[in-house]
Amino acid sequence: MDILIKEIINKERLRQENTLTLIPSENHTSSAVLEVVGSCLSDKYAEGYPHKRYYQGNAVMDELEEYVQMRAREIFDLEWVNVQPYSGSPANLAVYLAVLSPGEKVLGLNLSSGGHLTHGHDVSITGKWFKSFKFGLDTKGFIDYEQMERVILEERPKLVVVGSTSYPWRIDWEKVGKITSDNSCILLADISHTAGLIAGKTLLSPSPFVDVVMTTTHKTLRGPRGAILGVTKRGMTKDSELAKKIEKAVFPGLQGGPHMNTIAGIGQALYEVGDEGYKEYCERVLSNAIVLSGELKRRGFVVWGTDTHLMVVDVGVGKGREVAKELEKVGVVVNANTIPGDKGTPLNPSGIRIGTPAITTRGLGEEEMKIIAEVIDHSVNRGANNDLLDKITTLCKKYPVIR
Ligand SMILES: Cc1ncc(COP(=O)(O)O)c(C=O)c1O
Repeated sequence: MDILIKEIINKERLRQENTLTLIPSENHTSSAVLEVVGSCLSDKYAEGYPHKRYYQGNAVMDELEEYVQMRAREIFDLEWVNVQPYSGSPANLAVYLAVLSPGEKVLGLNLSSGGHLTHGHDVSITGKWFKSFKFGLDTKGFIDYEQMERVILEERPKLVVVGSTSYPWRIDWEKVGKITSDNSCILLADISHTAGLIAGKTLLSPSPFVDVVMTTTHKTLRGPRGAILGVTKRGMTKDSELAKKIEKAVFPGLQGGPHMNTIAGIGQALYEVGDEGYKEYCERVLSNAIVLSGELKRRGFVVWGTDTHLMVVDVGVGKGREVAKELEKVGVVVNANTIPGDKGTPLNPSGIRIGTPAITTRGLGEEEMKIIAEVIDHSVNRGANNDLLDKITTLCKKYPVIR
């Protein structure tokens, strides 16, 4: 093995072990997932779909893809799935390609309110090639469903994308479903962040209320970097051709050969949803986040959230990045993030985003959340020091990353 690559992998392994990952979109996968992703499946080209491949030698890949599709359909209550998208961004784009022509209208959550770039933001192809409209938050920091409905009635977008990357509260799927119930638009639920908790039935599945579901597979779901696209019963009823359109959009519309090793890794992660302990993992992700947000509030922080796995904390105008760097010095890894009504800039926002999936996978519980809140409080208000680093190092040693 290239000694340099080996050393880099080792350095990253140690970094993960010796710090606490509080980035809500990251997690620690099992050794089984890593083994599957690093297997000989990586060598095989399987352009096309099961039993309709463009290369020979794919009988085994057909078996694999159909098996993973079956697991994904069952877990997320979907009529049809596609497990080939390379990641979340191309998966979302495939839905745009399936449902819209260039210049047609899409509605999504503002980036500053917690939406993702691929929900129609100006710098993304989804905002450049399509006409994008936005909804945001009400004065209390919750999704403004009335505004969403108003824009739908005024602009009649053909695609509505609901989901988030930093919105800390549960989404009212039933309400969104009612607002988008007629056939004039397709509702895409982007559950990338919460998919693991939905799979564990700790959070409500959007499937009965939406048309299309997209999730990345590497966040709370604890799989490899990839994505799943699915069409629900409602989606099939609205447009019986919807699955076919999305299938064509993924391949040959956007992609070539699927990454069969990743698809198998997704299958492994879905298999682990059935593990004893998975449900407890989901419940502890939530209870840890609720305790951590409560502790930070008790210490005087303004916190958005939470009844999910993440929260956004106000750390002072424009100070998010500086605070994230200070926290990294004591082994707490977070990311700078905008807060609702941010007076900072996109590059220097005023908040940090914190989530509990990875530390819950390591086994940390409510008592440890109090220690983390104390470390965050002291680092933000007095700066990093060795005592704080020692506290985090002790937690890292007590709760190793078990693969
Ligand atoms: C809600 C949401 N959708 C889509 C994506 C895009 O996923 P990827 O980074 O795999 O392209 C992300 C990634 O953070 C996300 O949070």
